[in-house]
Amino acid sequence: MGNGIAHLFAQYGFKVNLIDVSEKQLAKALETIGKNLDRQVAKGVLEPAAKESTLQNLTTMTSITAGISDVQLVVEAATENVDLKLKIFKELGEEAPEGCILASNTSSISITKIAAVTGRAGKVIGMHFMNPVPVMKLVEIINGYATEPEVTGTIVDLSKTLGKVPCVVNDYPGFVANRILMPMINEAIYTLYEGVAGVEEIDTVMKLGMAHPMGPLQLADFIGLDVCLSILRVLHDGFGNPKYAPCPLLVNMVTADKLGAKNGEGFYKYTPGSKELTVAYRR
Ligand SMILES: NC(=O)c1ccc[n+]([C@@H]2O[C@H](COP(=O)([O-])OP(=O)(O)OC[C@H]3O[C@@H](n4cnc5c(N)ncnc54)[C@H](O)[C@@H]3O)[C@@H](O)[C@H]2O)c1
Repeated sequence: MGNGIAHLFAQYGFKVNLIDVSEKQLAKALETIGKNLDRQVAKGVLEPAAKESTLQNLTTMTSITAGISDVQLVVEAATENVDLKLKIFKELGEEAPEGCILASNTSSISITKIAAVTGRAGKVIGMHFMNPVPVMKLVEIINGYATEPEVTGTIVDLSKTLGKVPCVVNDYPGFVANRILMPMINEAIYTLYEGVAGVEEIDTVMKLGMAHPMGPLQLADFIGLDVCLSILRVLHDGFGNPKYAPCPLLVNMVTADKLGAKNGEGFYKYTPGSKELTVAYRR
């Protein structure tokens, strides 16, 4: 997600410092951004010269302190782990320039909780991009309990400048996108677990019957089954309602390290360079 967000801002003329703890991830990010820019040029959505100017707007670094010393906005997109986010936001609160807005791309962690450790809760907001960032139109903007209206206004305007459609929501578990999406994915997994139908049948019903571009099981593979499980746990803990309890099959698959597209197997098998969809899960 970090490379997609950096790509988008750089493409629209913003100077971006892309920060990661891992040099390897930064090199991979630049490679991915280059390939995605080539794809945009080939599709005719970007002028060839824009590739070079986008890349020139990007600087990679491994130090948060150096990367945020003179910025007006930070968009955090580190691993979805509450302790990690709290550590990062405490550091951002201490070191970011005064007035700098601190946004998080978190899919599920409370913006109010993240804001509480910064010492500038009014300047903290959720800026939830969808994957793949340069393509997907929506930005779900999440107001924490203390987010200042001016900050929301700035992020709404900025999202429009980036060619996106902003949608402002309040900070409750799962916000809107995942509160609705994850129970659907969980129900699809229950449908498989109970033997109502197979992987292809479930995905085909939802694709052709509901005009979804991708079935819920394939979508879960792309999001990452570990990520789906962690969001369902946030919903389950946050609302205390058993309807959000993750399906035991999802728990088993994550325990068995079947995490979806990112590590080669989830409900489907993924071979690098191949677009063929082969079902991996057989009851
Ligand atoms: N994957 C999706 O479809 C999706 C969609 C919307 C939002 N999100 C959210 O975006 C965020 C990132 O998700 P992802 O799927 O890209 O995760 P990822 O695990 O693929 O990437 C996270 C990156 O953060 C880096 N990182 C870890 N600790 C760091 C630190 N202390 N400082 C700097 N970098 C650090 C890691 O090296 C890694 O490169 C999460 O909050 C997630 O909920 C993900």
